[in-house]
Amino acid sequence: METKPSAEKQDLLDRYAYRFGPMRLRTMQHLCLDVFETERSGCYSKDIDGKKYLDALSVQGIFNLGRRHPVIVEAMKKAVDHLDIGNNFFMSEERLIFAEKLAETTPGDINCFFFSSTGSEAVDLAIKIARGYTSRPGIISANECYHGITGYALSTNGNPDYTVPFGPMMPGFSRVPYGDIDALQSEISDETAAVIFEPMISEAGLLLPPDDYFAKVRELCDKNDSLMIIDEVVTGLGRTGKFWAIEHYEGVVPDIMVSGKGLTAGMYPMAATMFTEDVSDFFLAYPFSHYSSTAGSDIGCVVSAAMIDVINRPEFLEAVNEKGALLAKGYEELLTLFPDVLESYVQIGLNTALLLDDPSGGFRMNRYLGEEGVFALLSTNNTAAIRIQPPLIISNEEIGKILDALHVSLKKLSLK
Ligand SMILES: Cc1ncc(COP(=O)(O)O)c(C=O)c1O
Repeated sequence: METKPSAEKQDLLDRYAYRFGPMRLRTMQHLCLDVFETERSGCYSKDIDGKKYLDALSVQGIFNLGRRHPVIVEAMKKAVDHLDIGNNFFMSEERLIFAEKLAETTPGDINCFFFSSTGSEAVDLAIKIARGYTSRPGIISANECYHGITGYALSTNGNPDYTVPFGPMMPGFSRVPYGDIDALQSEISDETAAVIFEPMISEAGLLLPPDDYFAKVRELCDKNDSLMIIDEVVTGLGRTGKFWAIEHYEGVVPDIMVSGKGLTAGMYPMAATMFTEDVSDFFLAYPFSHYSSTAGSDIGCVVSAAMIDVINRPEFLEAVNEKGALLAKGYEELLTLFPDVLESYVQIGLNTALLLDDPSGGFRMNRYLGEEGVFALLSTNNTAAIRIQPPLIISNEEIGKILDALHVSLKKLSLK
């Protein structure tokens, strides 16, 4: 049910629509999510008219630690007292400490880093390094993927909604169905610089590949002297109950990994391209071939290092798994209550998605959940799915609230 905005909010919405475009606002109004955000804390934020919204998305990981986590706020306050962005031509202890903490988490000998501000930039660099290192043009991604909005990242994308207005995309890019090793075997060649995949794709309704997929991808890459890039922008930093989601596929070590979103701890832009010592040799020949004026800022490094300290503890990751299991228990009950509209669910840690019978059920659920004051998001590459990816610090009580809202929303969907 739509509630009429106050005069104050309506004025702000009108001015906002003028400055940032009316179509985005209209979409958010349609989803009952035209929130003019004011206060924010933990798993909640508040609209200017007073309605509270429970976060069931974390903006796919940005708010893994919720809003304004006290440890992060404290670290940032201290940093602001004596630091700034930093001079990117100089070196700094903050950057080094963050890199060393990150290296404690990464698989194999992924020990070398380049920091940037957004996931898209970090993906672009991963692709640039792969091309530079191999002197080959080919990049293979998944049909269902989303790796970002910048030049190389966008060229991996198979969804015409993102690419058609900006075509043609860059040459050298091709796609295969996710999880289909035979398709990859047919596509990969001595022209392939790299393959780029997520360990699971939530943008497509949380697709999980066969258990042995990534071991076989690794084998194919080795056979063809191609690099393996794993995009952990959404899945990394504890989301799936392990620090990196690629750890679910035992023994698989990529050549390059990408992280973003949660690296910011919701407080300061940060993304990382992470690569092996071998791949880092590329920068011996081209040390200044890639540069970003504001990336890897000293304040951002302090914030990101504090975030790692919070998440990289066995008890924190265990709690993520326990909370995921609690959500799954609720999903099981919803499956028995609403078999006509709820087809199945996927859950791995706190990365979860509900798959609906209705091909556009994701849109409807998005709106119904908005009405209940819960912010979730449909999967844009599979509109029959709604993602539930709450902050990792969510309480059991708040999980109960998400499940209650899902109950009401599925009921509405089944009555429509
Ligand atoms: C898997 C994945 N990779 C990369 C990106 C790009 O990150 P950013 O929006 O920070 O540029 C996204 C963004 O949603 C993503 O989901």
